[in-house]
Amino acid sequence: RLLRPSSAPPTALVLPVVGGMLSFLGGPLALISKFHASCGECFTLPVLHKRITFLIGPHASPFFFKAPDTALSQKEVYEFNVPTFGKGVVFDVDHVTRAEQFRFFAEALKGNRMRSYVQMMVKEAEEFFGAWGDEGVVDLRDELSRLVVLTASRCLLGKEVRETFQDEVAHLVHELDMGMVPLSVFFPYFPIEPHRRRDAARKELAKIFDGIVEKRRQENREEEDVLNTFVHAKYRDGSQLTNDQVLGMLIAVLFAGQHTSSITSTWTGLLLLESHQKQKKGILEGSGKSATFLEKVLDEQRKVIAEHGDELTFDILQSMDSLHFSIKEALRMHPPLIMLLRYAHAPFDVTTSDGKTYTVPKGDIIATSPAYSHRLDHVFDKADEYKPSRLEPGAAEDAKVPFSFIGFGGGRHGCMGEAFAYLQIKAIWSIALRNFEFELIGDNAPEADLTGMVVGPYASQVRFKRRKLK
Ligand code: HEM
Repeated sequence: RLLRPSSAPPTALVLPVVGGMLSFLGGPLALISKFHASCGECFTLPVLHKRITFLIGPHASPFFFKAPDTALSQKEVYEFNVPTFGKGVVFDVDHVTRAEQFRFFAEALKGNRMRSYVQMMVKEAEEFFGAWGDEGVVDLRDELSRLVVLTASRCLLGKEVRETFQDEVAHLVHELDMGMVPLSVFFPYFPIEPHRRRDAARKELAKIFDGIVEKRRQENREEEDVLNTFVHAKYRDGSQLTNDQVLGMLIAVLFAGQHTSSITSTWTGLLLLESHQKQKKGILEGSGKSATFLEKVLDEQRKVIAEHGDELTFDILQSMDSLHFSIKEALRMHPPLIMLLRYAHAPFDVTTSDGKTYTVPKGDIIATSPAYSHRLDHVFDKADEYKPSRLEPGAAEDAKVPFSFIGFGGGRHGCMGEAFAYLQIKAIWSIALRNFEFELIGDNAPEADLTGMVVGPYASQVRFKRRKLK
């Protein structure tokens, strides 16, 4: 610590070496809160042999989001994904190749592709909810996770998987998932059982996809899925991804979008139900006076049904503002990626809102936290309250200072799947609310389980009863 230049950000005082690690594992948000209060928007925390410099809030975090890859890079901090994604893609390639591969992601997720994805999302959600009984109790988190897996199979992995290999591929992807434990971040190749199973699953997936990709190349068949984009993608020199790299790219998109979307869908439902029930029981302010957010969302659905019947298209989903802000507010309160990371390739300067400039030394890990930043009371009024109206155009609390809302990241590496995620979650809740009445069991939504790599709610039981919304 003594070797750091005087211009470096203040260092958080924790017991050296192991102390930082233990406090960090004990709960990163409590730790950030403590040092944000004592050190300000930019501070450094020693964790094992590393130093993590935090940039907190909308004044400091733009330095994180706007920095070029040559200054702050993702590779070193996200490299632990290589055994899961596979060789030759994303974090296992030089930055020029990576930029080209990100161009392929952008191509697969661009606006005009969404219209065909929406048809697949709607079909999956209709089939899924159609198979529910007339009434019962479900764990919303598990149910929506199953639905998002099915949708991802159809839109990303393609119809061969969805129609022929669904169970097998879902099982193997689950094994990949289980192979990502906290230890993997520091030691991705450590010989533990979850890593062994991850590697075996990755090999099995490679066999299945080799056949699928090869057949698509031979038949030269065009499909409207993400697989199609990767099969036909060309680098500037005219070369193509190998079959295994096509699979690697698909796994990367799947990992970026699957848990994040299913968790945000779950929170949307839980928070709409919780705030509705509390307001009706008089536990929340405004009880009995104004419509609850759930009632506003239902009214919006009724209007849409009156105009378009049961049809759900890209344009119809886009028009659902109440549902949109309910989802965005759920993401504000519970962003599944609670911490975003980079590696400093060179010293770089950060100026905080009080005008101080710090030089963050080369070799630091740089972190910003959507989960912590979204709960700053000076940015979001009574930040712990679920209040979708705060994001509506009149209030727009998220837009007063840029980078206040960072649930989808922002700047150079902002989420490429944002439109996809909103459309998918809107399709899910439109169909669910049109066909069922829901009730949260108990007064409170579950807490966030902070031990996961992607943070979602603990088990989330809700009661459902079939209805036809008119
Ligand atoms: C990047 C959040 C859904 C694809 C990101 C980042 C965040 C994020 C915070 C930035 C990571 C960083 O800066 O280190 C979310 C949330 C989602 C969601 C909360 C759902 C509610 C999706 C979906 C897809 C997707 C559905 C694809 C189908 C990507 C990709 C990137 C990314 C490709 C990398 C962009 C880059 O590094 O340039 N996402 N995401 N995401 N997301 Fe999402």
